[in-house]
Amino acid sequence: MSVLFEAVRDFVVRKEYHSSAKLCGKTVIITGGSAGLGKETALDLAARGAKIILACRDVEKGKVAAVDIQKQVQNANTIVRHLDLASLSSIRRFAEGILMTEPYIHVLINNAGVAACPRLKTIEGFDMQFGVNYLGHFFLTNLLLERIKESAPARIINIGSIAHILGKIHFSDIHLERGYNSALAYCHSKLAAVLFTRELAKNLKGTGVTTYCVDPGPTNTGIFRNVFSKVSCIAYPFSACKSVMSKSPKKGVQTIIYCAVEGSIAEESGLYYCGCRKIQPSSRARNDVLAKRLWDFSENLISTVG
Ligand SMILES: NC(=O)c1ccc[n+]([C@@H]2O[C@H](COP(=O)([O-])OP(=O)(O)OC[C@H]3O[C@@H](n4cnc5c(N)ncnc54)[C@H](OP(=O)(O)O)[C@@H]3O)[C@@H](O)[C@H]2O)c1
Repeated sequence: MSVLFEAVRDFVVRKEYHSSAKLCGKTVIITGGSAGLGKETALDLAARGAKIILACRDVEKGKVAAVDIQKQVQNANTIVRHLDLASLSSIRRFAEGILMTEPYIHVLINNAGVAACPRLKTIEGFDMQFGVNYLGHFFLTNLLLERIKESAPARIINIGSIAHILGKIHFSDIHLERGYNSALAYCHSKLAAVLFTRELAKNLKGTGVTTYCVDPGPTNTGIFRNVFSKVSCIAYPFSACKSVMSKSPKKGVQTIIYCAVEGSIAEESGLYYCGCRKIQPSSRARNDVLAKRLWDFSENLISTVG
């Protein structure tokens, strides 16, 4: 499968993206900006002059990240706002706050995520990985969409993963009551993120807002904490060589930065990127009927519980 080949190639090549693009006067929102890829992305975009809003479920952790960024980037304009993607009311509150204070949103990076966590539910009862990685971002994006359109040219970046190739959308068992597998639940949530990007691009045609789905590749962050804690017999040797089996966060964010600032892709939208280039996701992730069905289904889910 070519997407697998491209992911391996990205991991081996670890391409670095070089661009002198500046983002002075631009506002960027990054979900999950307190750690890992989100924080590293914030560091790069702050250095380009953007105003960065770190949307964090743990505000204190977010403030520590903001101070750290300010130490590394002189005059970094970084602020922290509370956002728990496992709660629709938190998402609504966050969006209301942003719409009150921010006249523009030029880049939205839907980055926050959880992986392979034990069976947990969001406040509204959705599977935690589906709820945080996909549905929460779907809701957030839609709440901010008019402001993003008013800020055009603007970009929305969703973080995907090679894991999407094993994902399915279980419309008749969205809470995964008929059998929960934590790793597969992650795959499902990432397939949803790729399909979301595809359908969003259609809805945004002609608005000047473009959308991109990024696979950062295996990166040494906190995302695998549940995997290591669960399989303790392999955890030690595996975590000991984690840095060999994964990229540094700085290398991991290269394609996210590419999709946020690269001028040559300004007219592209709805596509999937890995290794700072566009690649084809799995055939299921390119199914437009499925993408539209997921969009309608998600709107319905939110309207029934929200
Ligand atoms: N690292 C990889 O190898 C890899 C590969 C492919 C895709 N990805 C994707 O990359 C994205 C970033 O992950 P990462 O590797 O940087 O992992 P990470 O270091 O664990 O960071 C995840 C971020 O998401 C936040 N988050 C988790 N649950 C949240 C919630 N309910 N509401 C708001 N924020 C929440 C975390 O906040 P706390 O700090 O409070 O926990 C943290 O800031 C994820 O979407 C992940 O699926 C990662």
